[in-house]
Amino acid sequence: MFEARSIAADETRSLRHRVLWPHKPSPDVCTIDVDEAEHAHHVGAFNAEGEHVGVCSLFHQRSDRFPEALPIDDDVYRLRVMGTLPEVRGQGAGAAIVRYAANWSREQGAVWLWCDAREVAFPFYERMGFEFVSEGYHVPDIGPHRMMALKL
Ligand SMILES: CC(C)(COP(=O)(O)OP(=O)(O)OC[C@H]1O[C@@H](n2cnc3c(N)ncnc32)[C@H](O)[C@@H]1OP(=O)(O)O)[C@@H](O)C(=O)NCCC(=O)NCCS
Repeated sequence: MFEARSIAADETRSLRHRVLWPHKPSPDVCTIDVDEAEHAHHVGAFNAEGEHVGVCSLFHQRSDRFPEALPIDDDVYRLRVMGTLPEVRGQGAGAAIVRYAANWSREQGAVWLWCDAREVAFPFYERMGFEFVSEGYHVPDIGPHRMMALKL
């Protein structure tokens, strides 16, 4: 029902604006500093009509907050800025993105895919096979989080 595929960094911005950062003035400013970093990779989900309904980005990074949460010798990718449009939630677009992200990260040689999960998204990531690898922490303006990771 949903297809996930690689997209360019600038194709993430409209969805980031609509889903994650509607308070920002325009899609053009919905960037993050590592969008063009080496090994950065961006993923979109598309419905049967080809409409763009979901997004995430993958970065070749360890956690600064919990550097020892995953085995130090294991290669890891970070899943970040993940979201799907409210009108498609619960229909599989998020799952399509995570499956694509996990396969792609595994192909790069990673052993773990991790994220800083918002509390509201814990059930989604658990359903996708992620486990908690840190205690809880608070992100200003956003709320409670925990680091979660999927063994690839
Ligand atoms: C979290 C989010 C990406 C999930 O996307 P989605 O398109 O709804 O995900 P899916 O429909 O593919 O869900 C996959 C599974 O997780 C389950 N699931 C998703 N959200 C859930 C929730 N809040 N509570 C319980 N289960 C949930 C689905 O029911 C589905 O289970 P199933 O396989 O048994 O049918 C989406 O809700 C979202 O964009 N939220 C706002 C932004 C956000 O919080 N992003 C994450 C930041 S860390």
